[in-house]
Amino acid sequence: MKRAITPTQVERVMRDDDFIVSKTSPKGIITYGNPIFVEFSGYTEEELLGSQHNIIRHPDMPRSAFKLAWDTIAAGKEFFAYVKNMSKDGGYYWVFAHITPDFDANGQILGYTSVRRCPKRPAIEIISSVYASMLAAEKAAGARDAIAAGTDVLLSVLNDKGMSYEELIFAL
Ligand SMILES: Cc1cc2nc3c(=O)[nH]c(=O)nc-3n(C[C@H](O)[C@H](O)[C@H](O)COP(=O)(O)O)c2cc1C
Repeated sequence: MKRAITPTQVERVMRDDDFIVSKTSPKGIITYGNPIFVEFSGYTEEELLGSQHNIIRHPDMPRSAFKLAWDTIAAGKEFFAYVKNMSKDGGYYWVFAHITPDFDANGQILGYTSVRRCPKRPAIEIISSVYASMLAAEKAAGARDAIAAGTDVLLSVLNDKGMSYEELIFAL
């Protein structure tokens, strides 16, 4: 269950050698979290296991960013993203996430694994302003058209830079 949490400005910063790892079912239900995930999320392992991964969703993150993530991993591809997450106490922490599908012997998706490491500070500044524009466009468009509006903002940023999504992420 997702609780109503008021975000605060308190940041937790990942250490250079930290890895936050979680695994989910194909529908995004958490099936594993390592101790560093427990530490940064502020939830106990018992609270995390069986919850939807949106339990740590931060309201500053645009919906269209997650749509792109799900479209990519559900197609069997890996996905990289900078993500702002919210801890149980309302604090936040930035991660650089690599999400990969886990396949069975027949090539069916069994679930997903995400490994996150400490993001570069200048990258956070750039991507957070892209996310803020995407979020503003989503809010202005209203719920029904939010995803399309947020995606359009991202596509125009990529178009201006002449880069693919992955090229932008790795150039940050
Ligand atoms: C393996 C995996 C890891 C994920 N990690 C995060 C994460 O760190 N933060 C997050 O907000 N969503 C994460 N998600 C996406 C969530 O499942 C969800 O789509 C997102 O929080 C948006 O929630 P909403 O659809 O309720 O708005 C992850 C999904 C998967 C499959």
